[in-house]
Amino acid sequence: MNFKAYIADKLKSVTGLEYDVIESNIETPPDDKMGDLAFPCFVLAKTMRKAPPVIAKEISERLSGSDEIIGRTEATGGYVNFFFNRSKFAAETVRAAAKAGENHGGSDMGKGKTVLVEYSSPNIAKPFHIGHLFSTAVGNSLAKIYKHLGYNVVSLNHLGDWGTQFGKLISAYKRWGDKDVIDKDPINELLKIYVKFHEEAEKHPELGLEDEAREYFKRLEDGDAETTDLWKYFRDISLVEFKRVYDTLGVEFDSYNGEAFYSDKMKEIVDILDEKGLLTESDGAKVVDLSDMNIPPCIILKSNGATIYATRDIAAALYRRRTYDFYKNIYVVGTPQALHFRQIFSVMERAGWEWSRDCVHVGFGLVRFDGQNLSTRHGNVVFLNDVLNESIAKTREIIEKSNPDTPDKEDTAKKIGVGALLYTFLKNNREKDIDLNWDSMLDFDGESAPYCQYSYARGKSILRRAGGIDFSDADFSEVSDEEYALVKHINDFGDAVKNAADKNEPFYINRYVTNLARLFNRFYNANPILKEGVDENVKKSRLALVDVSCSVIKTALGLLGIETVETM
Ligand code: ARG
Repeated sequence: MNFKAYIADKLKSVTGLEYDVIESNIETPPDDKMGDLAFPCFVLAKTMRKAPPVIAKEISERLSGSDEIIGRTEATGGYVNFFFNRSKFAAETVRAAAKAGENHGGSDMGKGKTVLVEYSSPNIAKPFHIGHLFSTAVGNSLAKIYKHLGYNVVSLNHLGDWGTQFGKLISAYKRWGDKDVIDKDPINELLKIYVKFHEEAEKHPELGLEDEAREYFKRLEDGDAETTDLWKYFRDISLVEFKRVYDTLGVEFDSYNGEAFYSDKMKEIVDILDEKGLLTESDGAKVVDLSDMNIPPCIILKSNGATIYATRDIAAALYRRRTYDFYKNIYVVGTPQALHFRQIFSVMERAGWEWSRDCVHVGFGLVRFDGQNLSTRHGNVVFLNDVLNESIAKTREIIEKSNPDTPDKEDTAKKIGVGALLYTFLKNNREKDIDLNWDSMLDFDGESAPYCQYSYARGKSILRRAGGIDFSDADFSEVSDEEYALVKHINDFGDAVKNAADKNEPFYINRYVTNLARLFNRFYNANPILKEGVDENVKKSRLALVDVSCSVIKTALGLLGIETVETM
């Protein structure tokens, strides 16, 4: 039951105001002591020709104790404060959340609408950068959030698998590549020969390496069999490594169509832009001038006729529009690429594609590690697998010390170690730079995934100890302050999910679940559940609340891509 709607209805009958006006005016007081909801009477002052405090007092007197939903009312200043009947509210909320199960907080607002979430998008033959992990954490969570709201979600991995650098890589491979060595450690070895290419090209310009690379890329673009086979090989072995990371993270994609997929779809883009008179020459290149927006022109064709990153992105957007008829097309890509997205979205708008307004760049900040720029830790590259494995190994150490009897330690350490990392990326407003730090990531008592996972496991252990007690008829005839605060928070889950989708900010869910765990801990620390002497009815209500709290913690963590464990 929607208590706000109920109160709005009541207010409608006593004030004669429109329902929508009332609903939009109802507030949640800043302090629980001021009630559960409040209605400011200032909107009525004009028509009723009375001072708001007088009106508030009149309304309060008419509604106080008038029914079993509104426990009591109070007039303070120009506000009517409503205090729900706690038993009713708790019983209703817990019953509804239990019934909804894993759908609690969800809705069907997205029915029939497709949301594309593009995220991760690493570059083949290059290490998976920590920034790609940030994108993966945010994108994976957004995909789950939209799904929870009933949208049809398609996850896309726009692999960086095309461009002149593949000419260089092919040249390097043909000169120095050793398949046996590469197969053992593909990405690092490919990176090595790629770096060598640049060194040699600089040291020995007489070798003409740059020209050779351009020639190879040209062959690749023309579909030459040998170069295409090599490119495929690089792509396949890179994907095997990326997929290992995705498996550990529990992340999946519906499509791995990368930049290469659009290489034959760019001529159409150039033609469209040309037809619309949008292309101008600049130093031999064809560009779309954006000077009226005070941003650099968007290059469509380079002076040698080659297309670039931006052209491929425009082709990809049109392809997505045709293939998916999307409601929203979301790009989870680091904030340094904000200008690139402004450029391509502007070009698309000028091409007359109104749907360009449904394309959204969702940016995120930089990652540091213990105050240091992460990319400096191992020379120039970040070994993502190291970070993941370290998190899992450290978690294992903690479990070994604190709870050596944990069943299936390996699996538990993995879920907690991975969860700790994902949580950290989703802890703050995504635009904020983040500083990874093991101590806070794995602080079981602080703002961390392990803290939330631990709360869940505590709840599950209480339920196991309760054995077969049937609490389906819990009546909530007594509701303590801690229980009430927890129930109210459980009731607010839907708002958090909607907010997160509205702003494309998983951190609303992160904050929600952290507060939920905190309120849950406060509740079971202050309210005995299975202790001897606890009244049978009270015991049932508390068990029902534990059960529903666990379920909501699990669902909310799930929206962040974080798994729970039954024991820890
Ligand atoms: N591969 C790119 C990089 O690593 C990110 C791709 C972002 N997506 C896009 N549609 N441009 O920087």
